[in-house]
Amino acid sequence: MPSVSHLFFRAGILFLLVGIGLGLAMSITQVHDVIGAHAHINLLGWVTSAIFGGYYALNPAKAEGLLPRIHFWLYTAGVVIMSASLYLLLKQTPGMEPFVAAGSLLTAAGILIATWVIFAPSTASAPTARILPAE
Ligand code: HEM
Repeated sequence: MPSVSHLFFRAGILFLLVGIGLGLAMSITQVHDVIGAHAHINLLGWVTSAIFGGYYALNPAKAEGLLPRIHFWLYTAGVVIMSASLYLLLKQTPGMEPFVAAGSLLTAAGILIATWVIFAPSTASAPTARILPAE
């Protein structure tokens, strides 16, 4: 599996731990005040990261070069900044809006790079992964 896939899965599972931690905390306390942070951490942090990791694992040629790494770092930094500041915003911390906006824009920039990677023709030498039937 390409290293950028490992990076996406490692970041993703950490997001899932935090995301379900928030979900459990909301369930136990019965205070559902941070649903927005919980949902975004789980869906952008875990589900989408795992889809990106799976995409690069199935298309190793697309995982070569600098762009996939820029994709990973931009996207992950965006989700971390957006989720943390959204959580604090929902906890009524003043002054969080610019951080939520900056994190959201970084996340969106990461997704734009993903769009470029997915649409670009693959020129690299690595073969495309093939799933073979079990014998
Ligand atoms: C141990 C695991 C989890 C627990 C205990 C948990 C708990 C919760 C709770 C208490 C709410 C608030 C419900 C409400 O007030 O309407 C919620 C909402 C939500 N959760 Fe989770 N959750 C868990 C895992 C996940 C996962 C893995 C995902 C996504 C991959 C997810 C996505 C969502 C979404 C999208 C909402 C918002 C639903 C809405 O607004 O209607 N949750 N969760």
